[in-house]
This record gives sequence, C-alpha cells and structure tokens, in this order.
Amino acid sequence: MHIVTTPVARPLTAQERTERCAAPAFGTAFTEHMVSARWNPEQGWHDAELVPYGPLLLDPATVGLHYGQVVFEGLKAFRSHTGEVAVFRPDAHAERMRASARRLMMPEPPEELFLAAVDALVAQDQEWIPDDPGMSLYLRPILFASERTLALRPAREYRFLLVAFITEGYFGPAQRPVRVWVTDEYSRAAAGGTGAAKCAGNYAGSLLAQEEAQRKGCDQVVWLDPVERNWVEEMGGMNLFFVYEAGGSARLVTPPLTGSLLPGVTRDALLRLAPTLGVPVSEAPLSLEQWRADCASGAITEVFACGTAARISPVNEVSTKDGSWTIGAGAPAEGGVAAGEVTGRLSAALFGIQRGELPDSHSWMRPV
Ligand code: COI
Repeated sequence: MHIVTTPVARPLTAQERTERCAAPAFGTAFTEHMVSARWNPEQGWHDAELVPYGPLLLDPATVGLHYGQVVFEGLKAFRSHTGEVAVFRPDAHAERMRASARRLMMPEPPEELFLAAVDALVAQDQEWIPDDPGMSLYLRPILFASERTLALRPAREYRFLLVAFITEGYFGPAQRPVRVWVTDEYSRAAAGGTGAAKCAGNYAGSLLAQEEAQRKGCDQVVWLDPVERNWVEEMGGMNLFFVYEAGGSARLVTPPLTGSLLPGVTRDALLRLAPTLGVPVSEAPLSLEQWRADCASGAITEVFACGTAARISPVNEVSTKDGSWTIGAGAPAEGGVAAGEVTGRLSAALFGIQRGELPDSHSWMRPV
C-alpha cells in the first residue's frame, strides 16, 4: 500500500534528538512522525499517509472513546552492531492485530498496510535509534473506532495510527529483577471475554490491581485464571516462564493459551528458540500452590517475565495475601547479576538475534 509522505519542515538535529532520548521514561520520547490511515465501508482502507507527529482533532462523540472499540500492538525496531535497522516479527504483530480486531468487530488492517506503515515510519525516523544496545525504537500501532456516533453497534469508520518512541526497557535497564503481587481479588479477563485480544479495556481493567501491587511494594501484578483463581496466567503486560532444573538439565514451562491470556509474540519466540538451545519447553498449567511448593523444593530455579516492552525480566520474589517467597537466590546483591543462568542464556540468544549479532535462522528480523 502506498503511503503519501509529508515529513516535518525542520527535522530535529542529532543533538536535539539525543537530548529528548536521555533516560526516557517508557512511552514518552516520541519521534517526529506518525502514520495514519482510515477505513470506511465505501472506500475500505484509504488515505494512508506519513505526517509529522502531532495531536488529533477528535469529535467528542468519537465512538471509540465511549465504548472502547480500540486495539493496539507493540513491536520494536533495533539497530544492529553494524548500524542497520530491522524490526522484530512485524508479521506476527500484524496477525495478532487482525485477531484482536476480529474479536472487537473491527475491520482487520491488512498485513500489507501494517508492514508498509512500519517500513515507512522506521525508514523515516531511524536516525532516532541510538547506537546504545540497550535502546530500541518501540512502535505502537493503534486502531480505533472514529465514527461520530453514540450508537452501540460496530462503528462504520476507523482510524489506524502508528507512532514510535525510544525506549530502554519497561523496567529500566535490562535484567532488573521484578517483584510480583498475585491478586486473588481481581481478574484480568473472563471466560469467553477479550483476554486474548490486545484491546485497550484489558489494560484499563488491570490498573486497580496494578496499583494494589505497587502498594504492596511490588512491580507488577500476576493474574490467576478467572474461573477457579487457581492457575497462574500472566502479568499485566507480559507472559511468564518457569525454569525447572533437575540433574543438571533445565526445561521451561509457560501457562497455555486458554483464551484469557494474551498470546505474546516474545512468548512465542521463546517457545521456538529455547529448544534450539537445548532447553525443552512445555505449555502446561501451573497452580499458585505448585509455584510456591516448587520454589520451596528447589525444582523451580528461575522465573522470568517476557514481552516486547519488558524484554526478558527475571522475577525474584512473589507476594500473595498468604505470604511471600523468593525464587532461586532471590534479589542479587548490589551490582550482582540479576538473571539466572537459563534466563540469561535465553535473553542473550533473543537479544543477539534482535541486534543482528546471531544468525536469524527463524527469519524474524525485517530489515528496513
Ligand atoms: C508490550 O509489551 O508491548 C505491551 O504492550 C505492554 C505495554 C502495555 C506496557
């Protein structure tokens, strides 16, 4: 799909870009451009354009603001050690956005539009990506119902937008260990609900439990299944992996996609990558009690969260209303290495592919 390009009249200088990206809080250091496209039943997808980043003029009756027909994605572009820029698995993100759109009765942005938007924005703003291997360009596509109506039915007009910002990691520097709070009061998703869709409402509904987690001195909330409140599902914006070790060999377990978890693209990448590193994986349910017991017995040696924003973040402590426990050696001493051996190996393998330092045998990177 052709994207009409109207760049900013006066691009920022390298110095100005660097200043804007100095230690950026997640989701604040936006680049200078964005992509926009529109959909209506008569024209289908149209008016795809790359324009200067800026505010939107919205009618107060923009229906997506009222009834939440809003889905989004999160993916990243990396600068390799030799300077080239490539995007990690944009096709997988395009596919997930189409699945989310279907669940919310929205028109599916074709892969061609999604990839053309990513290519255009990354090509235009690639100079923003610092050489610093800890930094990347986070791309945020969003699709929302833009019709001016308050009728409660699938809207007849939609907008697709793509913006980008420079980020370090969701938890700051890579591999900072994370403390988690398991809520047994709130649910993120319901059976038959929208848990598997990346829709805005799932995130709004998570904030109260997330705030509770922070009050308990934790970084993130962990969700249990919404029916029995027994099975560990995921964290607010990331999936969970458990490392089991016995007799010197490790294996990974992650909760299965029951329909109430988000099918993470990083989760999927690790399910494919780990076996190539000699670490078998299984998607199997794990109860909260089993998690606690397997940490106590030493069967679980490491736990980590993974996601586009979170990258791979070791979890070192779990709190519930009935008490807390640590995982492996717990928090490292000041200056110590946070991630366990397996977590560190997986993280290095994934990051090596993303940074172009290791062969991309899965064809995950799309050069721009
Ligand atoms: C991501 O990992 O890209 C996410 O979408 C999580 C974000 C909402 C913090």
